[in-house]
Amino acid sequence: VRTLGVLTGGGDAPGLNAALRAVVRRAMQYGIRVLGIHQGWNGLIHGRVEPLTRYSISGILPRGGTILGTSRVNPLETDEVAERIRANWRKYELDALVVIGGEGTLSAALEMHRRYGYPIVGVPKTIDNDLCGTDMTFGFDTALSVATEAIDRLHTTAESHDRVMVVEVMGRHAGWIAAGAGIAGGADIILVPEHPFRISEVCQILNHRKSLGRFFSIIVVAEDAHPHPDEDFLTPEEKERVFQHTRLGGIGHLLARKIEELTGIETRVTVLGYTQRGGVPTAYDRLLATRLGVKAVDMVRASEFGCMAALQGMRMVSVPIEQAVSCIKRLDDELYETARVFFG
Ligand code: F6P
Repeated sequence: VRTLGVLTGGGDAPGLNAALRAVVRRAMQYGIRVLGIHQGWNGLIHGRVEPLTRYSISGILPRGGTILGTSRVNPLETDEVAERIRANWRKYELDALVVIGGEGTLSAALEMHRRYGYPIVGVPKTIDNDLCGTDMTFGFDTALSVATEAIDRLHTTAESHDRVMVVEVMGRHAGWIAAGAGIAGGADIILVPEHPFRISEVCQILNHRKSLGRFFSIIVVAEDAHPHPDEDFLTPEEKERVFQHTRLGGIGHLLARKIEELTGIETRVTVLGYTQRGGVPTAYDRLLATRLGVKAVDMVRASEFGCMAALQGMRMVSVPIEQAVSCIKRLDDELYETARVFFG
């Protein structure tokens, strides 16, 4: 392999720059030239490519985001797009490609490899930690830290005002961020997509806390958490909104309104949103991203195409990308049980 392309696709995650730096530095050791492709697959479609050298990656390790930019563009959208990619692949004399992405980007990478034989190695990233085949994705630890700090801060204001604070966190269809940050931040109730909740049970816990003299409460709710389908306390319109929504989010506001209606306790909502994805990566995410970047280049040299670098236990391993994208990694039962110990 003489020329290696690298791109970052999907939503950004803290640690992407650390991974890029690692790919370049490992490739340099082998005398491989690295071309950075801008804005995910878009850069390969439109020929937005730049050589990544020791100098272009200097100082990026602690920076959030991605110096290459990212997008959710699908490289398989039309035959014309596929043809442009083929032409640019030849033009830039690429011998292999490292694709750093989440479920959507890695699925496309796998399809490109299967359908057209592109020599591609994947690197998993997402703050949601919902990819199979790897024990953890980088970005998750930073999102946890941001959410935990927010919960700490909300505790003091909740306590001062005797309020219920609802904190809505990201995580897509999985409850890893909610459960992790909720436990670390000492939340009184944690609601996750894997376990539909009952509004009556939430209100019962809040009233019980009040009867014990705990006049404030913190509820962490994952953006895709939802009540039971037969929930008594939702109007038909509210049910339709909750169960047919296509965009994630909004559950925090609905829940807060219901709590105020049913308990009379003053309730406020904080949606953490993109703060969980931005800014400086934690040491753990920098370390994990760096190890994955190094491993990915080693896999390129070993021709392990169609595979992804992954963390299993304490070790870096190579797994088929298929494994990562064939399922959503649901929140672990043990972690959920641990969260439930502290309800109320
Ligand atoms: O997958 C990461 C994530 O931040 C999810 O937690 C969230 O649901 C989604 O991306 C938001 O996507 P977008 O950046 O397209 O708004």
